[in-house]
Amino acid sequence: MREVAFWRTESPEETKRLGKEFVLGFCRPPVLVLLSGELGAGKTVFVKGMAQALGIPESEVRSPTFSLVHEYSGKPYPLYHMDFYRLSRWEEVVDLGFPEYLEGGGIVVVEWGEKFLSFFPPPFFWVQIGIVDECVRHIRVTHSGGGDDSRP
Ligand SMILES: Nc1ncnc2c1ncn2[C@@H]1O[C@H](COP(=O)(O)OP(=O)(O)O)[C@@H](O)[C@H]1O
Ligand SMILES: [Mg+2]
Repeated sequence: MREVAFWRTESPEETKRLGKEFVLGFCRPPVLVLLSGELGAGKTVFVKGMAQALGIPESEVRSPTFSLVHEYSGKPYPLYHMDFYRLSRWEEVVDLGFPEYLEGGGIVVVEWGEKFLSFFPPPFFWVQIGIVDECVRHIRVTHSGGGDDSRP
């Protein structure tokens, strides 16, 4: 994994702005983005920012903890938001249609994606959010390399 960005944020608004910048600066679909960080780290806040880059209202964005997948129709491409917190086996990931979503021509972003890190086909981004204190977060973005496309 190669580090492509490291940010410090001091508010949810700043984290949203970084999520938006991440999409505009790094994402050319189809793209897979894994998000990790403990409960309350700001994974969903980051996805709200990613959604903004595609014109999706942030009010539509919620952790798909129970439904597992939320599809948002963005412009110019869709955002597929998944949460694997409750999954324990890769077969469950396949059963919910993960391979098809990946080929859906959009961005697939997965909260708790690191649970299956060794199963995901490169290339993918891994966004790790660490809690520093109540309002401060460190966000590290790495890229797997590999696949047909080793951007960035
Ligand atoms: N710098 C920050 N970035 C993101 N969220 C923050 C930050 N500071 C405080 N928070 C708060 O942390 C919580 C993050 O929640 P959420 O995004 O749902 O976490 P997760 O999806 O990782 O469980 C929100 O209540 C948000 O207001
Ligand atoms: Mg969440």
